[in-house]
Amino acid sequence: MIGVIKKKRVAVLISGRGSNMSALIAGAKAPDYPAEVVVVIANKADAGGLEAARADGIAALAIPHRDFASKAEHEAAVSAALRAAEVDIVCLAGYMRLISPEFVREWEGRMLNIHPSLLPLFRGLHTHEQALEAGVRIHGCTVHFVTEGMDEGPIIAQTAVSVKTGDTPATLTERVLSVEHETYARALALVASGKAVMQNGRTVFSD
Ligand code: GRF
Repeated sequence: MIGVIKKKRVAVLISGRGSNMSALIAGAKAPDYPAEVVVVIANKADAGGLEAARADGIAALAIPHRDFASKAEHEAAVSAALRAAEVDIVCLAGYMRLISPEFVREWEGRMLNIHPSLLPLFRGLHTHEQALEAGVRIHGCTVHFVTEGMDEGPIIAQTAVSVKTGDTPATLTERVLSVEHETYARALALVASGKAVMQNGRTVFSD
């Protein structure tokens, strides 16, 4: 007999429009997808993704960092919301907050991020400007486990795009974003199904 596999419960943390969040919500609607998005949390009350999540029938909360006296208090409120929603995996999707080492440790191996470059190239902000400045001919996106170093965690999935003559930061942003959505949904499925596991600071793949 084939047992029913329990879907992993996923929270998506956002700060803005949430197009990756929407892609995860859409991908997770497939009956055989190993995860479901159960809550979206934004650190900004006006994050556009909150409305988009609600329109998709997902619980969406604003927990604005500005309402808290310290990062620790804000993160405690986020943690409480994650616990209340019985979350297994946290996906950062355009979440523009540096996360404390304590929060990273609490979710180590269970927290993912998407970064708009082929890591380890171009960490931090303005990755498309960095790519144009460096003159690379290939650029792309990376989904990785979150560790204490910013944009340094073990890689789960990457997709490359070409850099074309005449590209601007805006055209590159659009081309990379068009592959981010599928890449994130694929990476989350690998982690939720246990086919990609973080062990000793590396991603170990099975299958
Ligand atoms: C994406 O480019 C993602 O890689 C980066 O922030 C952007 C978020 O876009 N971390 P969206 O809010 O998912 O549309």
